[in-house]
Amino acid sequence: MSDSNKSGLSEVTLAAGDKNVVLPVQHPTLGAPCIDIARLPKETGCFTYDPGFTATASCKSAITYIDGDAGVLLYRGYPIEQLAEKSSFLEVAYLLMNGELPTPAEFSAFEHEVTHHTMMHERLKNFFQGFQYDAHPMAMLAGTTASLSAFYHDTLDLEDPEQRRLAAIRLLAKMPTLAAAAYRYSIGWPIRFPRNNLDYVNRFLHMMFEVPSEPLEMNPVVAKALDLLFILHADHEQNASTSTVRLVGSTGANPYASVAAGITALWGPAHGGANEAVLKMLAEIGTPDKVDAAVARAKDKNDSFRLMGFGHRVYKNFDPRAKIIREMTHKVLGELGVNDPLLDVALKLEEAALKDDYFVQRKLYPNVDFYSGIIYKALKIPTEMFTVMFAIGRTAGWVAHWLEQQEDPENKIGRPRQIYTGSASRDYVDADKR
Ligand code: SDX
Repeated sequence: MSDSNKSGLSEVTLAAGDKNVVLPVQHPTLGAPCIDIARLPKETGCFTYDPGFTATASCKSAITYIDGDAGVLLYRGYPIEQLAEKSSFLEVAYLLMNGELPTPAEFSAFEHEVTHHTMMHERLKNFFQGFQYDAHPMAMLAGTTASLSAFYHDTLDLEDPEQRRLAAIRLLAKMPTLAAAAYRYSIGWPIRFPRNNLDYVNRFLHMMFEVPSEPLEMNPVVAKALDLLFILHADHEQNASTSTVRLVGSTGANPYASVAAGITALWGPAHGGANEAVLKMLAEIGTPDKVDAAVARAKDKNDSFRLMGFGHRVYKNFDPRAKIIREMTHKVLGELGVNDPLLDVALKLEEAALKDDYFVQRKLYPNVDFYSGIIYKALKIPTEMFTVMFAIGRTAGWVAHWLEQQEDPENKIGRPRQIYTGSASRDYVDADKR
């Protein structure tokens, strides 16, 4: 029996004027019961108003569960802590897409298929030439991801489950290739082919950092850290970018366009763009002695400054991913022999904020983006690529949700309503009478 079933709530009654409307309650496996308001407009002539969908379930999903108060994150029921310790990003991608952990034979077949879809069409490389060299890599990633639909016409029939599956594989396989190509183009280095003899993460690192003049020495510490970061970023229920993928997918748009829309949504500093914004904020604060002034600014309602990497729509406790990344930060920087003064600023900022009533009362804790930037910097990933790294990991969740949505019998085109605040109907006024 689910937690919400224990509430015993099977329906609610809404007193709407002289009418009582009985609304059914739907129960999840875990989490809060949901009042089904589909009949509300017909029964009462009213809609509901919920900006930002803070209290609204947009769909049913079996992929990921978050308990924001307890700081719990499950991928297909498996705690993120166990997956972080025992799994790999590609195995987690399989889990998110298929619902179960793969057998060794299943994983081997999956890895082989992903590995053999990592190349991009040679004509697609020309798309990068159209960008200024200093274009933001998220712009290049969004543009080239959407353009995949111009090349892969054999995966555009969404009625065909095999074509849907292959499109998901292609997106998972090619995202690192496109991401590395965007980086290489921005620094004027030749775009590298993916090497099939390397695993998913080392293949990406090779495409990012290998130079023609000398072989790249792979660093297992870097690869393990990156694999873990991709696991932690892989999925997160109906966050803004995943909801965007679903909304675009609900129109019947192809998966490449749907995921490209997710990339653009992730870019915002309130979402995936926060990891880049955190590092800029830490650099702007500069030294631990300036942390208190930054906290004061973040509390000042007349100052738009916010502590990037703090707060979360769902987590009102420590983001479990931030806990794992925080521990990993010290380990990775130690193993790489990196002494980053920004880490001292981050630790001081975390300490100051977690003691401050403003943050405590609003349950603002460090989120997944607070420490990830420091590790990416230690891995020599350039700041502008931080959100691109988030996109690589989140592609696993985006394609898993897109596949789930396409098979959902309750899936329908997303079309929210509004509270109209404009003019009532009025007649046109000729220009000479205005
Ligand atoms: C991600 O949804 C997901 O799951 C996202 C994500 C994922 O994996 O997909 O987890 C990834 O996007 C993490 C969040 C990264 N963003 C940031 O770190 C940017 C800084 N954080 C804030 O912008 C904010 O906390 C949000 C956007 C994350 C959450 O905003 P909410 O839930 O809409 O909260 P709110 O804006 O209504 O804030 C509530 C109060 C307000 O104060 P009051 O009006 O009550 O006085 O908290 C304050 C806010 O001003 N507040 C902050 C703050 N975040 C919220 N004040 C200072 N610094 C902050 N960071």
